[in-house]
Amino acid sequence: MADKDDVKEGKEFYVDVPAKNEPFFLKGSGALDWGMQNRLARIFNPVSGRTVMLAFDHGYFQGPTTGLERIDVNIRPLAEYADVLMCTRGALRTSIPPSNTKALVLRCSAGQSILTELSNELISVDIEDAIRLNACALTAQIYIGAQYEHQSIANVTKLIDTGMRYGIPTMAVTGVGADMKRDFRYFALATRIAAEIGAHYVKSYYFEPGFEKVVAACPVPIVIAGGKKLPELEALEMAYNAVQAGAAGVDMGRNIFQSDCPLGMIQAVSAVVHKDEKPKQAIKIYEAVKNVTAKN
Ligand code: 5RP
Repeated sequence: MADKDDVKEGKEFYVDVPAKNEPFFLKGSGALDWGMQNRLARIFNPVSGRTVMLAFDHGYFQGPTTGLERIDVNIRPLAEYADVLMCTRGALRTSIPPSNTKALVLRCSAGQSILTELSNELISVDIEDAIRLNACALTAQIYIGAQYEHQSIANVTKLIDTGMRYGIPTMAVTGVGADMKRDFRYFALATRIAAEIGAHYVKSYYFEPGFEKVVAACPVPIVIAGGKKLPELEALEMAYNAVQAGAAGVDMGRNIFQSDCPLGMIQAVSAVVHKDEKPKQAIKIYEAVKNVTAKN
């Protein structure tokens, strides 16, 4: 207990050591408050500056997606190899134990299904519930060029404003309508709009050519979604090419949880993202884990 006995004078004031002012180095985050930067530092590894986000929010509009039939069985064992879990509050509360200490990026939109117009979303989580769940970031889609473009931008703007009040960053997802071409022009437009409305980082897709120019023109970090399931080596090549072109990591779902060895795949992706492992080396991590799992 603090008391007045034995009070000692301070002796060492390091008068010749300038006080340090070290903002988290993440692109675009230098002017943010401490809590905001601290949450971003839980998402983006402070050593590599990158992140492996495990996305398993697909059920919010497409139901029990292949590989996500049982989140408690399929996803729980993968969590320790991810930096971030990206999911809905329903999946989190029912299927992820609260002893999990990985950063949470909370899906905060809903309002449609694969049977209807995907861009017709609304904000589906109150900020108070995001705080209760200890979210490190909020997320929703902007659907540039789609029927409900305006509404989707309003949703993300609202999340950003609400999150700013409590020091919680927002990741804007560039939702791509079925008739949109996934090219430089589209992603330069969508990612830049996301950053300009105040998103703290953006999820995009990887494409060639010109991805590095989209990264350069976006003043906040870009992470890539994995998209539809590819052969494992191709998915690792996509992740490798993306981070070499300046992506700050991945927010990957199907290419991990639909792999025939999700445990091996997430570790291989992590090596590519955090250690710049070449895909032909990283695939060996996947194969080794697959071999061990097959024997057990
Ligand atoms: C769904 C999403 C997904 O989280 C995102 O697409 C990542 O998953 P995948 O790697 O399977 O594409 O935002 O709307």
